[in-house]
Amino acid sequence: MLLPPDPVLPAGYVMRPMQWSDLPEVHALEQRLFPLDAWPLSFFEEELAQVGPEHDGGTRAYRVITGPVPGRVPDHAFSGQNTPVVSALTTQGGGEAGAAEGEAGPAEGETGAGEGAGVVLGYCGLMCVPPLADVQTIAVVPEAEGLGLGTAMLQWMVAESARRRARDLLLEVRADNPRAQALYVRHGFEHIHTRAGYYPGDAAGGAPGAGNARVDALIMRRHLVG
Ligand SMILES: CC(C)(COP(=O)(O)OP(=O)(O)OC[C@H]1O[C@@H](n2cnc3c(N)ncnc32)[C@H](O)[C@@H]1OP(=O)(O)O)[C@@H](O)C(=O)NCCC(=O)NCCS
Repeated sequence: MLLPPDPVLPAGYVMRPMQWSDLPEVHALEQRLFPLDAWPLSFFEEELAQVGPEHDGGTRAYRVITGPVPGRVPDHAFSGQNTPVVSALTTQGGGEAGAAEGEAGPAEGETGAGEGAGVVLGYCGLMCVPPLADVQTIAVVPEAEGLGLGTAMLQWMVAESARRRARDLLLEVRADNPRAQALYVRHGFEHIHTRAGYYPGDAAGGAPGAGNARVDALIMRRHLVG
């Protein structure tokens, strides 16, 4: 299996398990980033309730990336001193296994200051029931697009799926989202199926569900073995 390289984040940015205390911030971002089909808060709550190590029955894994808002980034942040995600987790008392054990628990152990402090700029979620894993969600705020945060989260989900012994990682993307599709293709995903009219149409065509053309969902797959 060809795993992606370890995800690397710009200096000052940290990827860590999503906590219950992140939900208000994450849900606010969700409504902003997915105005047509945002998850209700209860979806996130149901997902986080299923987080945990696989040996304990956990089928979900969620991460957030926090850091300074670009535009207010100190000069040193992009001086070339990038932060490997693994060491970033380690500095928070985590590491992959430790982070999985503690994820989505109460906010204890969560970094509240220093490295890792900052606003939530991106989040992602994985469901893994081998042999299949699914990207449940991935999003980055527009202010932080193009920094590599989406790439880092995708690389983490590929590696985490493989670690949990999934054979394939699947995802679903709107047909009118070429940017996300390009990211997925670059990371080895192929289009395997189309779910016609799965998503609400563009708001420009009218209110969601009010007769405007619906948008296809593309199902994409990345093999993790062989
Ligand atoms: C799709 C998304 C997750 C990508 O996140 P991101 O953090 O911007 O991704 P990255 O910074 O890792 O960049 C990915 C690629 O896009 C390129 N890119 C960056 N900014 C770009 C822009 N404004 N326009 C086009 N391409 C851009 C980068 O150069 C990079 O290309 P590379 O892999 O060849 O280097 C993010 O745009 C997003 O959350 N969009 C809204 C929500 C969404 O569509 N989610 C996906 C649902 S399936």
